[in-house]
Amino acid sequence: MQDVEEISRETDKRRLSGRIHILGLGNVGTFVAHSLAARKSPPPITLLLHNPGLYADWLARKRCLSINTNGLDDIKTGFDINVLNDRTWYSLPYWKPNGEAHDDVVDADGKLHIEDVHEDLRQSQEDDEKIECLIVAVKAQQTVTALKSVSHRLTPESTVLLLQNGMGTVEELNEKVFPDPHRRPHYMMGLISHGLARQEPFRVSHTGVGTTILSPLPAGGRLKAGEEKDEDWAPSTKYLLRTLTLTPPLVAVAETPTALLQYQLEKLAMNCVINPLTVLLDCENGELLYNYNITRVMRLLLIEISTVICALPELQGVPGINSRFSPERLRNMAVHLANKTAKNTSSMLQDVRRGQKTEIEYMNGYIVRRGEELGIRCALNYLIMQMVIGKSDILTQRNAGAIPLDLSHLEEED
Ligand SMILES: *[C@@H]1O[C@H](CO)[C@@H](O)[C@H](O)[C@H]1NC(C)=O
Ligand SMILES: *[C@@H]1O[C@H](CO)[C@@H](O)[C@H](O)[C@H]1NC(C)=O
Ligand SMILES: *[C@@H]1O[C@H](CO)[C@@H](O)[C@H](O)[C@H]1NC(C)=O
Repeated sequence: MQDVEEISRETDKRRLSGRIHILGLGNVGTFVAHSLAARKSPPPITLLLHNPGLYADWLARKRCLSINTNGLDDIKTGFDINVLNDRTWYSLPYWKPNGEAHDDVVDADGKLHIEDVHEDLRQSQEDDEKIECLIVAVKAQQTVTALKSVSHRLTPESTVLLLQNGMGTVEELNEKVFPDPHRRPHYMMGLISHGLARQEPFRVSHTGVGTTILSPLPAGGRLKAGEEKDEDWAPSTKYLLRTLTLTPPLVAVAETPTALLQYQLEKLAMNCVINPLTVLLDCENGELLYNYNITRVMRLLLIEISTVICALPELQGVPGINSRFSPERLRNMAVHLANKTAKNTSSMLQDVRRGQKTEIEYMNGYIVRRGEELGIRCALNYLIMQMVIGKSDILTQRNAGAIPLDLSHLEEED
């Protein structure tokens, strides 16, 4: 716990417990929690499970997270758990108060006794402990709901790290969860490029080594042009940043807010063409290539995207923006990426096939919203967004075998 002590000394403030809470245990959340647990001196970690069903899965996996690399499972244990049941978090520590580990609730045949799960929950304590550091790895569209469930445990001293695809969640959190600027936590953003694929709950395979780019956000969440002085970040922010950058499997680096923003926007531009087009054309990434007509569509979309990005007030005065975000460069990047992931199904197409809500409103929708603020009409991105939402609704209804009797939604929007 060297990091915690160092930082406490530095700041001379209330001592940090060093505990890190993680919300969202998909590929990214599992990978980050596992990486932290793999440190020589792991910080105390609490996994936040948002329903008792997930806790049953956790018990069935014997309270372990595993990461599979080159066919080998690396298993980590020792995680404390919080389970959300009927709007209250319950605490299920890894160690019993007497220092013993809990008995396995899985019998010799690997069967889980559901009564035991409920018994566990009945005997557990409510957990109102304040959260110092929270890593959020849920999908963009679930962020507000997820943060509402823990907002009473966050303080203006807490740091919330958002590790997700898509953009615009900080603005949405400020509006819907933390409307009072004096009660907002500190924010940090991150971008992960590791290749991760889900195998089963709490078990993920690491298919390609990438990096993790991290940066704290200035108070309020949004950058202003030319603001790049070294801010004095809050103790919980410094602690989380340092802990993550010293966690080898993450390959994490700290960047300035403006540098991170540019990486995020590059990724956003890629996501804005590859994701929706693979949904609408129902194809693999590589099938977008070598097709003159689709190439035209990509170009037109990227011209709009490039216009908005180059006009963003927070990037004014940053050298090289116009060439870094030129339509030509973005198109080359998109072609290269589609080629590199030719046989892959985009995450958005996977969501649509599973009948889940997509992240489109945090991708093309973000471009449309920022364009509106700047007086730039993004008709093509707007069209693409509505078509993806429409297609996903049609598939959902078809799968449910439902006949849509309510036609009111046909009249909305002008
Ligand atoms: C579509 O692409 C083909 C070449 O693959 C081209 O001949 C044709 O003109 C294109 N159509 C339009 C309307 O641009
Ligand atoms: C895709 O990758 C292959 C092999 O790396 C390369 O030969 C080909 O030219 C690439 N195609 C495009 C459109 O970049
Ligand atoms: C693409 O799919 C392959 C095989 O399914 C997988 O190994 C690889 O990690 C995927 N790449 C990305 C970027 O998801």
